[in-house]
Amino acid sequence: MDNIKSIAVTGKGGTGKTVVSTLLIRLLAERFPGRVLAIDADSAMSLCYTTGLKVDKTVSNLRAELLGMRQARQQLNNGPTKDLMRSILAHGEGFDLLTMGRPEEPGCFCACNELLRFGIDTLIDDYDICIVDGEAGPEQLNRRVMKSVDLLLVMADMSARSLQTAAGIIEVANKGENNIDVKQAGLVLNRVRNDQPTDELVKKIGLEIYGQLPEDKLVNEYDREGKSLFELPLDSPCPMAVKEILKKAIPNF
Ligand SMILES: Nc1ncnc2c1ncn2[C@@H]1O[C@H](COP(=O)(O)OP(=O)(O)O)[C@@H](O)[C@H]1O
Ligand SMILES: [Mg+2]
Repeated sequence: MDNIKSIAVTGKGGTGKTVVSTLLIRLLAERFPGRVLAIDADSAMSLCYTTGLKVDKTVSNLRAELLGMRQARQQLNNGPTKDLMRSILAHGEGFDLLTMGRPEEPGCFCACNELLRFGIDTLIDDYDICIVDGEAGPEQLNRRVMKSVDLLLVMADMSARSLQTAAGIIEVANKGENNIDVKQAGLVLNRVRNDQPTDELVKKIGLEIYGQLPEDKLVNEYDREGKSLFELPLDSPCPMAVKEILKKAIPNF
């Protein structure tokens, strides 16, 4: 894992960001137990369900608390900030999870993102790899939840709209200066059918295909039943496809 310390998963809503993030977390945590930091940067808060973890406190909760407590604010500025951030982590098998959560008042998304960025910054050195399950669309890249991302995985299904969103995200990622520094980016296609040619659609976007997931009946079933994707058999189609992504990203995985 010499060169990849962070993977961010992005794309249009519903394209499988949370499924792929969860399986990345699971496979990495099995391989590098205790060295994986998972970040749920989507206010819809899904990783707690798909990883089967109970989240007691989110970054948004912490922010609301800090706003009401001058002493705690001072602690954040001067004191052992890492302890404060550590205190809101949920602990899974081989990984820890930091959840942004929903802002408690309207209009404070940016503030929550800012505190999340601060949290990631403070914690990231304690881990070997960080996986971020992002918000839909390119906005979060603009808000720079992370300073840099070693691998940006842009999810798309085979719909023209999701590919358009993917193209928009790449554009933002490539814009430079005020944006997040993306070292490499790859496209991950979801719900790919064998009879569907992918070339023409994808060529337009100009990104390397990093992975392809087929429709996986078990993923649907687990979702319907509210079961954690950590219980999914590893030889089912989606985990196998995500393993291929990791093999491509990390030498000797
Ligand atoms: N390859 C797949 N096979 C079956 N169901 C899938 C697959 N990918 C995603 N899903 C289902 O599609 C829905 C959206 O996926 P999700 O990962 O939540 O998307 P996102 O996080 O991008 O909004 C979920 O119900 C998920 O279980
Ligand atoms: Mg999601």
